Order: sequence, then structure tokens, then C-alpha cells
Amino acid sequence: MQQLNKPLLITISQALKSARKALEKTSDTPTLDAELLLAHCLDKNQTYLHTWPEKQLSDNQLNCFEPLIEKRKTDYPVAYLLGHKPFWTLDLIVTEDVLIPRPETELLVETALEKIQNIYNPKILDLGTGSGAIALALASERPDAKITASDYSKKALTVAHRNAQKHDLTNNVNFIQSDWYSNVSTSNFDLIVSNPPYINPQDSHLKTTIRFEPFQALAAKNNGLADIEKIIQKAKSHLKQGGFLIIEHGFDQAEDTLDLMHKYYLSKPKNLTDLNNNPRITYATTSP
Ligand SMILES: C[S@@+](CC[C@H](N)C(=O)[O-])C[C@H]1O[C@@H](n2cnc3c(N)ncnc32)[C@H](O)[C@@H]1O
Repeated sequence: MQQLNKPLLITISQALKSARKALEKTSDTPTLDAELLLAHCLDKNQTYLHTWPEKQLSDNQLNCFEPLIEKRKTDYPVAYLLGHKPFWTLDLIVTEDVLIPRPETELLVETALEKIQNIYNPKILDLGTGSGAIALALASERPDAKITASDYSKKALTVAHRNAQKHDLTNNVNFIQSDWYSNVSTSNFDLIVSNPPYINPQDSHLKTTIRFEPFQALAAKNNGLADIEKIIQKAKSHLKQGGFLIIEHGFDQAEDTLDLMHKYYLSKPKNLTDLNNNPRITYATTSP
């Protein structure tokens, strides 16, 4: 951002214009980014910025805004700068310890809700819960569900637990530290859901803006399929008869995921496509 001339009084619209210009080269959404960050520093919503464009910013507000724009210029994610991200109907706390929840993952939540719609007190396992996004979205929709949410990362679990507290869902979700199924003590789940790491460690995308997110949340060996395989391999022995596994994967991993589901004796595997028509979710059941 061009250094804002401190002695001059800067209005909301001037600050936004200057920030937009500063972000144009690195961000695809410079206007939105500038508005979200300024609204954050003013502790107001974006509508306020449009309603009061001539309002002058205080020194404190400018001192909040300028460093955020400088950091955003390095491609650092807006969600980490704000410290939160909306997912489903929840506003989730996010830190560098967790993956920023993606809108695509809401397809997994929708599919999960459909699969348990006729089950009372469904038992659900969310593997690799991160911020708690999937587990908490399901808990918010199905207060009768008994949900176990696991992650290998203790730091991620701390964030997930804070999110459960924020949304008053601590009684609905049991968070455990576990290397996939290793510390999961029960085996009769109605549903297992997971958005595991699935990016090939050599993939050049890992050098883009996602480089700020935890590597272990993103990348998996064997062309990104290693964790998907571990999860599918033991799904059958942790599911009830008629239970479902639903897994998110890369747009080019749908066929491999289907094959793995066949290989480990899950039935009727099916891919689902996201809003961009990319196959992003695959599910299968233990029913014959
Ligand atoms: C792609 S992130 C998904 C986070 C969250 N479920 C979401 O959809 O936003 C994958 C998660 O798997 C966790 N993870 C990676 N390896 C794991 C392992 N061996 N056992 C359990 N969790 C693991 C990571 O820490 C990360 O939180």
C-alpha cells in the first residue's frame, strides 16, 4: 500500500482506494480484501464502509489497517489476517495451525446430512477435523448426533475446541488426538467423513497462497493418495452394516478413490461434483 500520509486525514473511501491499488498485483479480489480488512479494523461490517465513505479514520484504525495490507501484499490469506472464516452457518476461528475451511467442503456436509437423515442419534467420525469445520457443521444441524472428531495435530485440536466453545457445541463433539484410526476406540459408526490431505507434495500449487497453510494438512505421499487410502482401508471395520464413508479429494482423484473403495470392499461407490462440475466427493457403503 502506498504509505498513507499520516498528518493528512484519510477517509474510508481514500483508504480503500489506496489499498485496492496496493493489492491489485497480488490478489484476485483486491476490492473485497480491502473492504474486509478495513471493516475488521473499524469493527464494523462492509455496509458501514459504503454508508460512511467520507468518515475519517483514526490513527489507531490506520495503524491496524496498514500492516494488514502490507501482509496481504505477500499473498498471506485474508482469513488468517481476520482470524476467522465463515463455513456452513458458522463463523469459525482460524489460525495458521489449521486449514482454512473451503466452500467446496460444504458439499461433503450436505451429503453427510442426507445419509443420516433417517437415523436417530447417528454416530459420526470426522477424520482430520482441523478447525472442526465438518464436525461442528454436522453438530449444529444434528444436535442428536454423537460425533468423534480427530486430528493428528494438537494445535489444530485446540482451535477446533475453541470453535466448539464459540458455538456452544462442546457437548456434541468429542475431540481426540489420533493418527487416523489409531486412537478411535469405537467401531460402529453410522458415518465416517473426511477431508484429508490430498495434494501431491511436488504439486506447484503448494508454492502459491496455500503455502501459508499447514503442509501436513495439504500434502500426502503417493501422488496425494496415501492418506485417502489409509482412511478407506480401515473404514469398513469401523462402520456399521449400512454405514457410509464420505471422502473429499482432488478433482483428478475421483477414479483412484473409486478404485480404492472397491479394493477395500466398500459397495456402491459414487462420485459427486461440486459447483464447478469437478468430482470432489466420493462415498460408498458397507451394505452389500
Ligand atoms: C485438508 S485438512 C481438513 C481440515 C478440515 N476437516 C476441513 O475440512 O477444513 C486435513 C486435516 O487432516 C489432519 N491430518 C493430517 N495427517 C493426519 C493423520 N495422520 N491423522 C489424523 N489427522 C491428520 C491435518 O492436521 C488437517 O487438520
